[in-house]
Amino acid sequence: MKSLVFLLLAAVLVEGKVFERCAWARTMKSFGMDGYRGISLANWVCLTKWESGYNTSAINHNRDKSTDYGIFQINSRWWCNDTRIKTANGCQIMCSQLLTDDVSVAIRCAKQVVSDPQGIAAWVGWRVHCKNQDVTKYLDGCGLNLSFL
Ligand SMILES: *[C@@H]1O[C@H](CO)[C@@H](O)[C@H](O)[C@H]1NC(C)=O
Ligand SMILES: *[C@@H]1O[C@H](CO)[C@@H](O)[C@H](O)[C@H]1NC(C)=O
Ligand SMILES: *[C@@H]1O[C@H](CO)[C@@H](O)[C@H](O)[C@H]1NC(C)=O
Repeated sequence: MKSLVFLLLAAVLVEGKVFERCAWARTMKSFGMDGYRGISLANWVCLTKWESGYNTSAINHNRDKSTDYGIFQINSRWWCNDTRIKTANGCQIMCSQLLTDDVSVAIRCAKQVVSDPQGIAAWVGWRVHCKNQDVTKYLDGCGLNLSFL
């Protein structure tokens, strides 16, 4: 019984979650994402909306056998290690660390991804749904004081 309680508690602690849009925007702002590498917070919210629906548990398998993990859908061939395929592991993390409700690792890794030459265009969801679009609606009603627009 004790070990069952412990297991349930452990499951709760590492469980992912789906963020409410404005709560997610505020969280990213607190981690310095507003204007990071010239990318506005609204673009980051738009990107994660289309990549994961703000779901930290999101997992999608690609045809090339790589997998995309977490709220930013970070790829296992280049950025994290899931032990399933050979990886460059640019963020030096296990992919499972991208699936918890502690988003600090995912945000640190996203900052590394966007620092690569292709920048935010690395994300298909951003290219298709956010690039050259009015993304301000992703911050509507969030009451944020932004230094960067
Ligand atoms: C979040 O992603 C997980 C894993 O794909 C899925 O099981 C869950 O239903 C998703 N949650 C929502 C609200 O879409
Ligand atoms: C990935 O993780 C496995 C298991 O811990 C380890 O053996 C392997 O060396 C790691 N690969 C990279 C590239 O970090
Ligand atoms: C908004 O932020 C700026 C600097 O980041 C600050 O100077 C200003 O007082 C803030 N305004 C409000 C209403 O909080």
